[in-house]
Amino acid sequence: MKKLFLLSASALTLFSCIDNESADKMEQNDSGKKYSFTERPYGKVEGKEITEYTLTNPSGMQVSIINYGGTVTKLMTKDKKDTPGNVILGYDTLTGYLQKSNPYFNALVGRYGNRIAAGKFTLDGNNYTLAGNNNGNSLHGGNKGYDKVVWTAKKLSDSSLQLNYLSEDGEEGYPGNLSIQAIYTLTGDNGLKIDYTATTDKATPINLTSHCYFNLSAGADSTILNHELQMAADKYTPVNDVLIPTGQIADVKGTPMDFTTAKQIGKEIAQVPGGYDHNWVLNKKDDGLEKVASLHESTSGRMMEVWTTEPGLQFYSGNFLDGTLTNTKDGKKYVKHAALCLETQHFPDSPNQPSFPNTILKPGETYRHTTVYKFSAK
Ligand code: GLA
Repeated sequence: MKKLFLLSASALTLFSCIDNESADKMEQNDSGKKYSFTERPYGKVEGKEITEYTLTNPSGMQVSIINYGGTVTKLMTKDKKDTPGNVILGYDTLTGYLQKSNPYFNALVGRYGNRIAAGKFTLDGNNYTLAGNNNGNSLHGGNKGYDKVVWTAKKLSDSSLQLNYLSEDGEEGYPGNLSIQAIYTLTGDNGLKIDYTATTDKATPINLTSHCYFNLSAGADSTILNHELQMAADKYTPVNDVLIPTGQIADVKGTPMDFTTAKQIGKEIAQVPGGYDHNWVLNKKDDGLEKVASLHESTSGRMMEVWTTEPGLQFYSGNFLDGTLTNTKDGKKYVKHAALCLETQHFPDSPNQPSFPNTILKPGETYRHTTVYKFSAK
């Protein structure tokens, strides 16, 4: 309080301006550095222009995003020596992202992220059939999910890009016109935030997520087996041999699924047939935004926290990568376990699992999901 009495007249004038300037301040750090937002043509898909948008925050963290699949094409974060590096897998050009075997690299996924058993569900007395694009099950929205469509992009500010997509009634077998908005924001504290909202005109299952493939060594280490992972999850959903949940909610304690304290991913992976590709049941008390996971790569010192409003987290250890993808960045071979995904989500196959949290969005309701991937180095 004392200090306030000592304020000079000019300081008081400054104080009164703060409200007007607060928007600017958010886009500017103490050293006066600002956000920047640039864009460049990235090719065409189905005759539609694809643009790459690059957002840089005042401390130099940078993200590039294209409106094809809402895909992140580059994510530059600093290591403990302050050297920037790209922490996601990717391709040199659009051709790479368009290859048939592209495994959802860094894209937005929907209408239903992960699997629906046999591609079937019943809703309001109607039976629906989806494409059985993965061992007869429906994976990541079917043959042409939201990772393969062109979104409409709009700059909201130097730190935010809005993407919109209208998924029509019947598209990939799902009911209802679903109007989706995903906003990518680069925060001042080195977070990549994704805010999703959606509304529908018929009841529909919905499970939107981001499928970024992270390797915090930024290319120095060919796999993520040395990364340390911690997840705030005492339980997970066991799966059958085609990765459909059995319906059981099992304790992780005493199993290779236990990441309640930080553990090297490679430590027990050999005991998990096929590698990690499971949904962890987060220890969240409600649907607020909470920190649910941390990932650390000790050589670079890079650390990533995952914050989400969602109840589940799919940890996928890049098991299906086999070095055959083409047009990769710098011609890199993306071998098995080259990267990992931490997909914030509702549980797989929820439309057929009455005991899992609800994934049905009804007309008049708004689907909301926020996830933040937050970076630091130590
Ligand atoms: C998710 C799935 C995996 C795999 C990848 C994409 O993580 O759970 O089984 O399909 O996507 O290859």
